[in-house]
Amino acid sequence: MTQPIYLDYNATTPIDTEVAAEMKYIIDAVYGNPSSAYSIGRTAKEIVDKARLQVANLINARPSEIVFTSCATESNNLAILGALKAQSGKHIITSAIEHPAVIEVCRQLETRGYQVSYVPVDQYGRVNPADVEKAVRHDTALITIMHANNETGSIQPIDEIANIARKHGVLFHTDAAQSLGKIKVDVAQSSIDLLTIAGHKIYAPKGIGALYIKNGVKIEKVMFGASQEKGLRPGTENVIHIAALGKACEVAQRDFDKNTANMRHTRDRLFDGLQKFFPQRVTVNANLQHCLPNTLSVALAGVDAHTLASLIGNKVLVSTGSACHAGSVNISPVLKAMKVNAQRAASTLRITTGKHTSEMDVDHALDLIQNTVKQLDK
Ligand SMILES: Cc1ncc(COP(=O)(O)O)c(C=O)c1O
Repeated sequence: MTQPIYLDYNATTPIDTEVAAEMKYIIDAVYGNPSSAYSIGRTAKEIVDKARLQVANLINARPSEIVFTSCATESNNLAILGALKAQSGKHIITSAIEHPAVIEVCRQLETRGYQVSYVPVDQYGRVNPADVEKAVRHDTALITIMHANNETGSIQPIDEIANIARKHGVLFHTDAAQSLGKIKVDVAQSSIDLLTIAGHKIYAPKGIGALYIKNGVKIEKVMFGASQEKGLRPGTENVIHIAALGKACEVAQRDFDKNTANMRHTRDRLFDGLQKFFPQRVTVNANLQHCLPNTLSVALAGVDAHTLASLIGNKVLVSTGSACHAGSVNISPVLKAMKVNAQRAASTLRITTGKHTSEMDVDHALDLIQNTVKQLDK
């Protein structure tokens, strides 16, 4: 059976072949505990140290600023809960379009006496830095705004927001799970204090992440145990996955221009094809000038996106902008925050390309979408 064409790279990515080879080598040859003083332990520690450097290099950080975690969700929890624990302020600023891995942490904190300001976004899903500044209070302890949105690809003006945070003496965290490998991130040139990294969005396996913590920024432990990862993430290191994340970061950095050019080319080819096939019916839920190069959140007027996605689903894999529960349609909170109406949300597809997506993949997907919509229009 031929594999379906995968166009959902913001959901996850397959493991890169070089990353898989690195993992295989470690599975076969390295089983030591990095905390052990004898040679096989030291070998494992060297692998973890190398990976820390590779991750740091991708964002222009120092290795001492990287803590390995199990995923982006854990990195977000550690950043937010750890930063707040280290301070007395009880106010947080975030945006209305964060991933649940941030929003749900904030909601939990609201039940523990914290107050949260949810800054709105414009019709393109972007935060206005002036709104962030307006929300700052004397007791604001943290601003957490994502770098790029997983559904729309909208890139947030995080450097401006980080500067506002710095000006007011507030810590700034950004969830960069979707942006790494797709747009440049340079923490040394920015006032970002804390930044979340996800392995499985950059061709490493699921179940590995990292948190960048700027040197000098104090966060408290939220888990307790031995002293791994400066005690911030106790537990014997997952050497295989850490090495995989390191390799994935090295490859992402090395191939950045080639990969982003391909993602953009195939995304734009998809968009052009949709516009050609469905003139007057296509609306993008983003401003493509401020959008990840691989992401197209697009509404096809008059089309039920769920029906379309399920009809093409054994050949082309995409996401939709709403969720169906027991017959009723729930608009995604991101599209809701952008004031996208129910009709448009229900006809929204999220199509995301990857570093190996080909023109042929796109053309097959376009053909299938066109033919299926024709059937649905009848
Ligand atoms: C922006 C963003 N943050 C956090 C996450 C959570 O990642 P994980 O499930 O690997 O913890 C995701 C995953 O989709 C994401 O897109």
